[in-house]
Amino acid sequence: MDYQHLLERIAADVAPLIGSGTPAEYIPALAGVDPRRFGMAIADLEGNVFGTGDWRVPFSTQSITKVFALALALAEGGDSLWERVGREPSGNPFNSLVQLEYENGIPRNPFINAGALVVTDRLQTLTGDASSELLDFLRQESGNPDIGFDAEVAASEHEHGDRNAAVAHFMASYGNIDNPVPALLDHYFWQCSIEMTCADLALAARFLARHGLRSDGSRLLTRSEAKQINAVMMTCGTYDAAGEFAYRVGLPGKSGVGGGIIAVVPGRCTLAVWSPGLDAQGNSVAGAAALDRFTTLTGLSVF
Ligand code: DON
Repeated sequence: MDYQHLLERIAADVAPLIGSGTPAEYIPALAGVDPRRFGMAIADLEGNVFGTGDWRVPFSTQSITKVFALALALAEGGDSLWERVGREPSGNPFNSLVQLEYENGIPRNPFINAGALVVTDRLQTLTGDASSELLDFLRQESGNPDIGFDAEVAASEHEHGDRNAAVAHFMASYGNIDNPVPALLDHYFWQCSIEMTCADLALAARFLARHGLRSDGSRLLTRSEAKQINAVMMTCGTYDAAGEFAYRVGLPGKSGVGGGIIAVVPGRCTLAVWSPGLDAQGNSVAGAAALDRFTTLTGLSVF
């Protein structure tokens, strides 16, 4: 398949949508990003990467990192994680608290903030330095040693982090957080602040298309675990818009409020797209449209 030609076609098709939606406003450091940015990359299984537009411009990955943290927590700690976090779509906004009390401090899934805090807590217990472990992994899988944290974004999240602090303390009251909440929040905010390009993300996510194999050929996850993560991305990766995303795109995907989305075609390739204008659920408007065009033009969905 001529991925380069395909990407140019998709970029032209979604051009009228670029600038639609609103960059995340609840994190001031993200609110100032130019909403007219658009980039998209595709990485094949061998690590060849193709791109269009701003595909080499670093942006704030935010909740996309939740996928990589989950993979590391499962790889290092195994299935017992699922005793502390569920695998069902929440149908609620990503930062919602309402279900947690009814469900005894067990978050619905690892991709809402509550679930991601549990995953980061687990990774912190397993490794002693969750955010650095994650950064190292992303550098290795993308082959880019320059990937780093954005201190301004992390500080901004901290300053406006009352909701995440409330979620973490609430789960701690049910015994579902092992580490001190302030330290956990620090690791979570550093994790969300990691800056990567579309090329970096498409390369780093390849283990999900390679049935659990890392870029160096070693095994990160079993084939079954890779399937499980892809399945949870499909059902929960775009929050309360996951049904609509599955309907339109038909691929496992994970979004972040920085305007990025990654998607996986198992056994074939990975995609990353970035455009900062978000819809009401926190997903990139032009990004989701570009992935919709990708599966429509190629037929490469999982269905
Ligand atoms: O916890 C937060 O609010 C952010 N740092 C991450 C949110 C996010 O990306 C959710 N996304 N769609």
